[in-house]
Amino acid sequence: MTAPLIAGNWKMNGLGKDLAEARAVADSLAETPARARVAICPPATLLARMAEALAGSAVALGGQDCHAEPSGAFTGDISAEMLADAGARLVIVGHSERRAGHGETDAMVAAKASAATRAGLEPIVCVGETRAQRDAGQALEVICRQVAGSIPAGMAEGSFALAYEPIWAIGAGSTPTSDEIVAAHAALREALVECAGSAGRTAPILYGGSVKPDNAAEILKLAEVGGALVGGASLRAADFLAIIRA
Ligand code: 13P
Repeated sequence: MTAPLIAGNWKMNGLGKDLAEARAVADSLAETPARARVAICPPATLLARMAEALAGSAVALGGQDCHAEPSGAFTGDISAEMLADAGARLVIVGHSERRAGHGETDAMVAAKASAATRAGLEPIVCVGETRAQRDAGQALEVICRQVAGSIPAGMAEGSFALAYEPIWAIGAGSTPTSDEIVAAHAALREALVECAGSAGRTAPILYGGSVKPDNAAEILKLAEVGGALVGGASLRAADFLAIIRA
């Protein structure tokens, strides 16, 4: 059984002074190693400084998005190669905030995931349904369709992770029920195997959406939950460490 992956998504939060939080996580893990793999995905402006701060530690660095092309006339964008060059080992692609706020389609997400692989990064591909889709009974159909469209063909075993983030649970302070999480992750596993074969059988499926110190243990023990993608609670070392220890 592979170690679960606990990844912190800082979103558009974090200034130089907040590097101390990442350092505190690394220091704690150096003292008492965790069973989980741990990553922090800071804003791009902090990547290089955080790479220095975390050098030699058990905390891997990740980006929050990447462009599909390796370089070129794409003002404001950052390529997977640039993330790798800055010290990143992972990258989140297809987060619902990118899909909704930047019009990213499944095909664009798949191209970004391919770019990540090309650059030697581990993509964390995100899927998740809206409240309206869940209320209409379409949640499983929606997320499985997103998997089919967002996971590139030919992914190698151990090269990527999937994150199930119901949009209505992000930043909401409430999560789906355990039964709902188990049902979603079971459906996602089937969809992954269908589109990625043996690589889909072993890819960790993270849960994301209001993961906190007080609910992490319960969520992480559920069937097919291979880790967590943590937003708000990853910004403070004490909270993030409590989730890692769970
Ligand atoms: P919260 O943990 O703040 O709900 O955010 C989840 C998320 O979007 C992580 O990518």
